[in-house]
Amino acid sequence: MKSADILTGITTTGTPHLGNYVGAIRPAIESSKDDTKQAYYFLADYHSIIKCQDPDRIKKSALEIAATWIAFGLDTDKSIFYRQTDIPEVMELTWILTCMTSKGLMNRAHAYKAAVDNNEKTGRKDLDKDITMGLFCYPILMAADILMFNAKKVPVGKDQIQHLEMTRDIAGRFNHTYGEHFALPQAVVDEKTAVLAGLDGRKMSKSYNNTIPLFEPEKRFRKLIMKIKTNSLAPEEPKDPETCTLFAIYQAFAKPDEIKAMEKRYRQGIAWGTMKQELFEYLNETLKEPRKRYNDLIKSPGDIDEILKKGALKAREYSVPFIDKIRKSIGIQPITA
Ligand code: TRP
Repeated sequence: MKSADILTGITTTGTPHLGNYVGAIRPAIESSKDDTKQAYYFLADYHSIIKCQDPDRIKKSALEIAATWIAFGLDTDKSIFYRQTDIPEVMELTWILTCMTSKGLMNRAHAYKAAVDNNEKTGRKDLDKDITMGLFCYPILMAADILMFNAKKVPVGKDQIQHLEMTRDIAGRFNHTYGEHFALPQAVVDEKTAVLAGLDGRKMSKSYNNTIPLFEPEKRFRKLIMKIKTNSLAPEEPKDPETCTLFAIYQAFAKPDEIKAMEKRYRQGIAWGTMKQELFEYLNETLKEPRKRYNDLIKSPGDIDEILKKGALKAREYSVPFIDKIRKSIGIQPITA
């Protein structure tokens, strides 16, 4: 099995929403079509237990995320689609890398620092209150995900750039100590992919509770679109597409000529009610087929498990011999070998 030209992980805590699709799923499926590049995509289920201690949520999220990626046409023969926990070598590598990571580096990780800041702000005496070693060491687990498959390019959001820098740091120290085993990965942050705004106009994100899930039943989906915040301009008043959440979402899905035409209607003063209805109809039509596939998949979770198992088998063709090599390089092997 080839190493990863492209690799990315999705934490299994949420229900996929429009922002996930535009920002991560669509570009990933697009790049998985490139025959010359081996893509690895995985459900980061060990990452999910850092923040979420609700087993049902995690299980449901894994199913929803896997079904979403497949419903949108991820080619699971070409790309390797798997569950992190099906690759035990990742856990083993995590420990080995932990022994190559200076504590000071982890002290600087932004998720940990934000938690400490929060304790400070809320006046807690113990600044490490409620912070687990899972949260503290989280960048090491991510480094293991990436280095396990010698990934070259890692498409991520801006908030993950620091983790890629840390991954290179850890890999560099390993290579310096034990020989050149790991390639140094690059974060790929595509400035061109849209960051969608959510119901309240802030970035669509689970942490803001402002998301529009991709595969809500039609009625509920329409209701959510109707809830998107707009300004108070009256019908017929000219409107600015640039600063409008509705337009931004439309733009992320529509074709160039459709976008142009809509822009014109904004200048002419389309009413918010009309725009919301049209946006709903457009998205509803666009998502119709994937929604159908999604609902079918959710009803046969066994098929999804099969696909993920097959992916893990392929991934392990790489990780099993590679971890063996890593073990040997650090002096852990049968004494007679
Ligand atoms: N930490 C990433 C996020 O929150 C998810 C993730 C886990 C990941 N392991 C990874 C992304 C490895 C890229 C590569 O978005």
